[in-house]
Amino acid sequence: MASDIKPLTKLAAWQALETHYLKVRELHLRELFAGNPKRGEQLTTEALGIYFDYSKHRVTDETITLLLQLAEESGLRARIESMFRGEKINMTENRAVLHTALRAPKDRSILVDGEDVIPQIHSVLDKMAGFADKVRAGEWKGHTGKQIRNVVNIGIGGSDLGPVMAYEALRHYTHRGLTFRFVSNIDGTDFAEAVRDLDAEETLFIIASKTFTTLETMTNAHTARDWALKTMSSRAVAMHFVALSTNAAEVRKFGIDTANMFGFWDWVGGRYSMCSAIGLSTMIAVGPDNFIAMLDGFHQMDEHFRTAPFERNLPALMGLLGLWYNNFFDAQTIAVLPYEQYLKRFPAYLQQLTMESNGKRVTMDGTVLDYQTGPVYWGEPGTNGQHSFYQLIHQGTKLIPCDFIAFVKPLNPLGRHHDLLMANVFAQAEALAFGKTSQEAGAEGVPAWLVPHKTFEGNRPSTTILMDELTPAALGKLVALYEHSVFTQGAIWQIDSFDQWGVELGKVLAGRIVPELENKTEPELNHDSSTNALIRRYRKGK
Ligand code: F6P
Repeated sequence: MASDIKPLTKLAAWQALETHYLKVRELHLRELFAGNPKRGEQLTTEALGIYFDYSKHRVTDETITLLLQLAEESGLRARIESMFRGEKINMTENRAVLHTALRAPKDRSILVDGEDVIPQIHSVLDKMAGFADKVRAGEWKGHTGKQIRNVVNIGIGGSDLGPVMAYEALRHYTHRGLTFRFVSNIDGTDFAEAVRDLDAEETLFIIASKTFTTLETMTNAHTARDWALKTMSSRAVAMHFVALSTNAAEVRKFGIDTANMFGFWDWVGGRYSMCSAIGLSTMIAVGPDNFIAMLDGFHQMDEHFRTAPFERNLPALMGLLGLWYNNFFDAQTIAVLPYEQYLKRFPAYLQQLTMESNGKRVTMDGTVLDYQTGPVYWGEPGTNGQHSFYQLIHQGTKLIPCDFIAFVKPLNPLGRHHDLLMANVFAQAEALAFGKTSQEAGAEGVPAWLVPHKTFEGNRPSTTILMDELTPAALGKLVALYEHSVFTQGAIWQIDSFDQWGVELGKVLAGRIVPELENKTEPELNHDSSTNALIRRYRKGK
């Protein structure tokens, strides 16, 4: 955080927004649209093939002006530059934050501690491409000479969610002769079910872990090795295991030759790592050309975020709109609703990206915040969500801003399916915004006693993100859009969006409990009475 920036709530724009909020909070989208017939065209912006409609937000021109002013007063522009230049903006870990370098073209130069990182990045990408091509062509043979047909990615958090989301999102482009599985949970069921129908001699394990010490991943990796070596000799590890990591020493210790390791660097955060070596499973699935096209999509959004004026800057606008509801309307969550089946894991991916990044309660300098930070992100693909939780969004007591994501062209055109899908996404945004008044319900002949139940208050805000087609480049743009909107919010909230100390305490306590569950002799338990009782009950029952 630039130290010359005032505390957020002392900024003039913040205070102006507080006053402005009191003026506009009761305004209804019906009035806003009635007052300006062109609103639906004016409150939109388009960049990189993304049509971004924010007209169905509870904002006036003044709201947008003040939010943009807030971005300026918060020093967002300078902070963006600090990130792109490789300054150590991850303050608590004293690290640069350079996922943007992972998708920068070869001719760029980005220095970290005086060293240009671009050649290293491209050398790993080239090595990944060589390996991916071999696996895809059936030239990377297993220990017994059989062709590799199954790829199992073992990782957790950013070492799983990015790969599995991208695999599902780009499934249309994948090599259909290869089977992909993703194992993350320490629950043995995850591994057991992933390999139950696989032949070890045809299976490649990708052990994805930035640190190569994560309990879940290392436990699953050892189980995978035991499983593979049930039918093959220990020399099979060389052909059946590769590592994606920053930690060569631990990779070696596990028994993987570092020739079969694809490296990355401490300035790539786990949840920002899908463009690094962590993307190897994606590259094997879709091929190097598609992977590079995805990186190019990311890069285009990076450039847009870095250079576009905030009023036309998609990630900045998205971040500011989220902040408007989070900090002024006290909205607690944001629903992400992709009307695209291939994006079914996108909400889960976004949960780590947004909540691990912005789930913080102190500023950079350690001051406890007196305002809200990261909202809860959640969602499901449309139209499934419509028949499940949308009722609450339409008629419940909570304000839930929604992101609708849709594509003009379907990847699987089938009869009327796509028109029906798109009719639904447009209708949902319309129904949420405008609702149905009691007069309208009454005019439809609804009996008076039923009218309150059939009235839709409306004024439920949403963004509609409309793109042409879900291509690898489109996916890159979409993910980077969210990455940078998270950055925008974190910068304004003056927090460190790039650490995750909150996951540590549970890890430490689990480490203490493990021997208490495994020891043959009854352990002396010194936890609280609830934890003690749970441990005793488990020991008795197991
Ligand atoms: O959950 C904490 C975390 O450190 C995430 O940030 C990270 O993505 C995940 O664990 C996995 O870490 P690693 O890649 O080091 O195994």
